[in-house]
Amino acid sequence: MRRKLAAGNWKMNGTRAALAEIGAMREAASGAAEVLICPPATLVAQAVGNDAGVVIGGQDCHANASGAHTGDISAEMLKDAGATYVILGHSERRQDHDEHDDLVRDKARAAWEAGLSVVLCVGESLAQRDAQNTLDIIGGQLAGSIPDGATGHNLVVAYEPIWAIGTGKVPTTDQIGEVHDFMRSRLERRFGAGVGRSVRLLYGGSVKPSNAAEIFAVSNVDGALVGGASLKASDFVPIIDALNDSAD
Ligand code: 13P
Repeated sequence: MRRKLAAGNWKMNGTRAALAEIGAMREAASGAAEVLICPPATLVAQAVGNDAGVVIGGQDCHANASGAHTGDISAEMLKDAGATYVILGHSERRQDHDEHDDLVRDKARAAWEAGLSVVLCVGESLAQRDAQNTLDIIGGQLAGSIPDGATGHNLVVAYEPIWAIGTGKVPTTDQIGEVHDFMRSRLERRFGAGVGRSVRLLYGGSVKPSNAAEIFAVSNVDGALVGGASLKASDFVPIIDALNDSAD
């Protein structure tokens, strides 16, 4: 059985005052679903040690273990700060920092070596969807970004259509289901049925309290990677609750 996962990506939002939001997630985080918050790197160490039962992750790491890379953060540093996960290959990093599959794969290897689990993001642009290339794009990103050696413990895949991120636009449940079923079959084909079935698949892109339950009912959706609606407990808690209800 795959444990459901409600993951929050705070992106470049939040100062120390925001840490109180994690504490306010305590009751929801005591349900069946695992709850993960990925705050900015400056808050990781302080967010760890919250007594809310919320696990903490980073939003990126460098592909190298250490060295002359001003401004970058290694996987080992995140691990040392108490993180257990790291988001890699987010479309904002692919776009803002020109990250391609090869680099994402090297980062994932570095994360695994440091003992972090990876939340690996894939997703098509609107032009790619309109050209009916969605599954080709997703298949290519999965093949190129995931190193050999994936397991249900060290890998979570998040499907985040770029056109749905921060826009309020959400794919239909059929569209989400099509991509998630496809990702499941690709993972099974590459890593074998046992591993392929154990990797959790998250949907991300404009998930809100109002649409969470119907998204969580889609086949092969094991949770969500939530941006804006993870910043406030008042938005994220109903999403966690919907996921806990879907796990019953
Ligand atoms: P929003 O939930 O704000 O659309 O962001 C999704 C996302 O990019 C999470 O990584």
